[in-house]
Amino acid sequence: MGNEPLGVRLVFAAMFLLNAAVLCRGGITSDFVRHPEKAVDMPLDADVFRIPPGYNAPQQVHVTQGDHEGRAVILSWVTPSEAGSSTVFYGTSEHELEFKAEGTVTKYNFYTYTSGYIHHCILSNLKYTTKYFYKVGIGLTTRVFWFKTPPKVDPDAPYTFGLIGDLGQTFDSNITLAHYESNPKGQTVLYVGDLSYADIYPNHDNVRWDTWGRFVERSTAYQPWIWTTGNHEIDFAPEIGEYVPFKPFVHRYHVPHRASGSGSPFWYSIKRASAYIIILASYSAFGKYTPQSEWLEQELPKVNRSETPWLIVLMHSPLYNSYSYHYMEGETMRVMYEPLFVEYKVDVIFSGHVHAYERSYRISNIAYNIIDGNCRPVPDQSAPVYITIGDGGNQEGLAASMTEPQPRYSAFREASFGHAIFDIKNRSHAYYSWYRNQDGNAMEADSLWFFNRVWNLREETYYP
Ligand SMILES: [Fe+2]
Repeated sequence: MGNEPLGVRLVFAAMFLLNAAVLCRGGITSDFVRHPEKAVDMPLDADVFRIPPGYNAPQQVHVTQGDHEGRAVILSWVTPSEAGSSTVFYGTSEHELEFKAEGTVTKYNFYTYTSGYIHHCILSNLKYTTKYFYKVGIGLTTRVFWFKTPPKVDPDAPYTFGLIGDLGQTFDSNITLAHYESNPKGQTVLYVGDLSYADIYPNHDNVRWDTWGRFVERSTAYQPWIWTTGNHEIDFAPEIGEYVPFKPFVHRYHVPHRASGSGSPFWYSIKRASAYIIILASYSAFGKYTPQSEWLEQELPKVNRSETPWLIVLMHSPLYNSYSYHYMEGETMRVMYEPLFVEYKVDVIFSGHVHAYERSYRISNIAYNIIDGNCRPVPDQSAPVYITIGDGGNQEGLAASMTEPQPRYSAFREASFGHAIFDIKNRSHAYYSWYRNQDGNAMEADSLWFFNRVWNLREETYYP
């Protein structure tokens, strides 16, 4: 620890001992029993899907980071009846929106569905740590929202990320989102893929992409959500003539991939405060010589841990997963990329896909070669912690079946819906906590003090 006052140090020490005490028992399969009802999608007339009043009023408003450093945002929204205006008026006072930016508008067809007019607009050269108000729409049907820019990239800038995955649009999804909103800490959501689950409906009914956009607007219009693609974004449906993968996603959700030298919106990176975040694509080619692989190999050496100490990777399909669901699906990417994650000391990897919660110890399985047969995860302090947070609450329900016995590398697992918070304090410490939906937001169901892998390379937990 650095120069913290004694009180702060004592709190750190107490939290560490508490974690150690809990974790000394080794891998925990939680005995929390969740009320077993089926997750059901909210009906089309649910209040969270309501269309904002006024002719052609903007809806499905969302904001994401728009550059590599955090000085720009991409604002997106849909107007249902006509294109209207793609201009955004914005400023630091709600009553004086002194700046304006021009966006673009697009639409798409999917089988018999025709989308509304989808607008995207980049606001650039924003001031750091500043609240901006913005107005979209035209005439009498305008709507005003706000967002806050992050601090300047700095190794000790505190910043708090929310973690949500596989949200969908069920009654449980609504509880997860409300639970996250009531947790006052989250400043930006790292979303680990599988958004609307529209593809479960006949002909991938894209109306469910619209309802999802309206459902999450109450958060996405006010803080950036950083997007990762999951299998439910693929929307490949040759049986109805839809051959282009990711068509609805790429029209609706823009990301700043070009700012990190990526030619694809499915893998890219951003810096935000003291974090460097790499987003990878489980469902785009990632083998040797593929664009994603070449990009990642060039990307990792660029990460300057003196500038951004915290190196976080997002991907949809987990590399370590001890549930029966999607078992081993991440294995091919693990074989490809795990040596890089260990070499570059990634702090943590967040994934979704499995509709449950799991956290690993720091382990790696990179010693294997075809001759020695030495294929077993072992403790490795250069390795990431792997966290599965695919427990947003979508209609496929919980993944309650686990492989038995719990593998040694698995520190904690529980089949409950929830969200998590990754709270960066400075270059050496971050506090991580997972909240199950059944509890209040002051109650943590799992937690860990993270020690930065470059600035504070100490063991966080006792490996059983
Ligand atoms: Fe998935």
